[in-house]
Amino acid sequence: MEVLIRKFKISDYEEVMNLWQLGRLPLKPQGRDSRAQLEQQIKFDQVIFLVAEKEGKIIGTVLATHDGRKGWINRLAVHPDYRRQGLGRRLIKRAEEELEKKGLLLVAALIEEDNPASMNLFVQLGYEPHPEIKYFTKRKFHGA
Ligand SMILES: CC(C)(COP(=O)(O)OP(=O)(O)OC[C@H]1O[C@@H](n2cnc3c(N)ncnc32)[C@H](O)[C@@H]1OP(=O)(O)O)[C@@H](O)C(=O)NCCC(=O)NCCS
Repeated sequence: MEVLIRKFKISDYEEVMNLWQLGRLPLKPQGRDSRAQLEQQIKFDQVIFLVAEKEGKIIGTVLATHDGRKGWINRLAVHPDYRRQGLGRRLIKRAEEELEKKGLLLVAALIEEDNPASMNLFVQLGYEPHPEIKYFTKRKFHGA
């Protein structure tokens, strides 16, 4: 499959939102997934937002970030018509490479318990599950 992996541009915004909706990723359109916030986020050096493009259409995304100590893989999604062809694997590996270039040697991902596809994928790539860890968040407003 001829697929180009390139940096996200803000003009990709609508297509990416559609893809995330198709992938049932939790969306915060008034918060961190708003156009304005994404436009801000991609200005940061520690935000590596990549899209997979095939014949001009966006069919995959991955957003890698880091805090100087640990890399994180977020917003991994592959269009339903292109799944099980290795693109998810390719996007994660590319995100890892970009993080390693910045010196990050530990990469983590948060995966919901009812997502065996994603869990299998990460385990296949050598990620170790940590079921003993509980995730806590605090938000300044409900849709943040
Ligand atoms: C998870 C997701 C990104 C996988 O993308 P993909 O391109 O289909 O993944 P790959 O083809 O690279 O799959 C690699 C491996 O992952 C595992 N895997 C992928 N999809 C799977 C599924 N539906 N069920 C079980 N295992 C699955 C398999 O081990 C697979 O290897 P195999 O095809 O040789 O058996 C895709 O299903 C998706 O976009 N899901 C919706 C969004 C999402 O859940 N994102 C992750 C949030 S943490």
